[in-house]
Amino acid sequence: MSDKPWGGRFTEPTSKIVERYTGSVRFDQALYAQDIAGSKAHARMLAKQGVISQDEARKIVGGLDIILNDIHEGRFVWKDELEDVHMNIEARLTEMIGDAGRKLHTGRSRNDQVCLDFRLFVSARLEVWSELLAALVKVLSERAEEHVETILPGYTHMQPAQPVSLGHHLLAYAWMFKRDHERCQDALKRSAVSPLGAAALAGTTFPLDPKAVADELGLFGTFGNSLDAVSDRDFALEALFVGTTVMMHLSRLCEELIIWANPNFGYVALPDAYATGSSIMPQKKNPDVAELMRGKTGRVYGALFTLMTIMKGLPLAYNRDMQEDKEPFFDADRTVSDSLAIMAEMMKVMGFRPERMRQALKLGFLNATELADYLAAKGVPFREAHHVAGSAVALAEKSGRGLEELTLAELQGLCAQIGPDVAEILTYEAAMRRRNTSGGTSPERVKEQIGTLEGWLAGL
Ligand code: ARG
Repeated sequence: MSDKPWGGRFTEPTSKIVERYTGSVRFDQALYAQDIAGSKAHARMLAKQGVISQDEARKIVGGLDIILNDIHEGRFVWKDELEDVHMNIEARLTEMIGDAGRKLHTGRSRNDQVCLDFRLFVSARLEVWSELLAALVKVLSERAEEHVETILPGYTHMQPAQPVSLGHHLLAYAWMFKRDHERCQDALKRSAVSPLGAAALAGTTFPLDPKAVADELGLFGTFGNSLDAVSDRDFALEALFVGTTVMMHLSRLCEELIIWANPNFGYVALPDAYATGSSIMPQKKNPDVAELMRGKTGRVYGALFTLMTIMKGLPLAYNRDMQEDKEPFFDADRTVSDSLAIMAEMMKVMGFRPERMRQALKLGFLNATELADYLAAKGVPFREAHHVAGSAVALAEKSGRGLEELTLAELQGLCAQIGPDVAEILTYEAAMRRRNTSGGTSPERVKEQIGTLEGWLAGL
């Protein structure tokens, strides 16, 4: 005879290797708090509906609280032969309180139970990601405020393009992480929904009240179709997509920091706490944290693709394939959470080097557009103005100077319309200040963005 909770019809024991292959308690024990919360809500609802007695519900809830505490304190003994978190907890409960424990699973299947647990877990993590994202937006906005007037080259094609405010550059990331926060909150609307009451797949003959369970657990609502309820993993996919987008944004920022930390750029001095040395080259200070974060992005992409692939061929309703949904999510969650926390800490203490940024402005002729625009504003056709500015770059480059270091006579030699007022136009400050369109890099507009983001943070 089988000793499994489902072993009624079985006469032989499960093979050991199959037990290991099919078992999930190694990893799904991470869902214990959600499993217990779901079971308590289910038991209370069963009693309210008259399916079990109030006394039985009290015993179940009391027993589950003791188990919760035992797990917290590391006293709970997990048994592989009990397969998963659900059966481990239920078996222990029955050991403790007898028959009442055996009634807990009335009107419920592990199919709706595991989905509820996972939904509660994913939803809680989306809330945590949201908080971490908001904290990162705050740090970026604070650092941006310090550097509204700091100027560095803005790039297109990774070639120096036009001067931008460092604050503006940092805020570009703040906006990305704000959108990620919004994505988390939107995904929550669909993840924080209860599937309990779908039972194995078709609903149940017991007079359950799924809404009472959802309310007790603080969820937004219940399922509309029992088959869909037990076989839907969209909520996890959406969360993983949000996770991949967060990592993609972090990875771009990391890439930027790695480039900026290269001595040829030198725009940042990495804080010692976030860099490492080389065991052979004494001069090295490597941006390992940023590199690893860029690398770990691949794990989260992998998790999304794993689950997409698991789901694509599944007929309705529950299939055991879906047990494979958890480990990729757990791994992705650790990566996303840790990366967000570390990035916020690292950006808080990142050492920016405005003097190196200024040198790069000069080398890159980042005021060439200003000269062209200046001439165009004087009525020189833009194509011709562009050409004149290009010749000015060539002239300055030959003598190792910036455009602003050419004499007025030299400039007038290229185009008679150039007047003494060009000097002001060619300053990097003017280039930045004059890009004053909404969302642009002028200090006024950057401060406006900081105001918007701070208002958003205050309203959370
Ligand atoms: N460990 C399973 C999972 O994670 C729980 C549900 C099992 N259901 C079943 N009918 N075997 O998906």
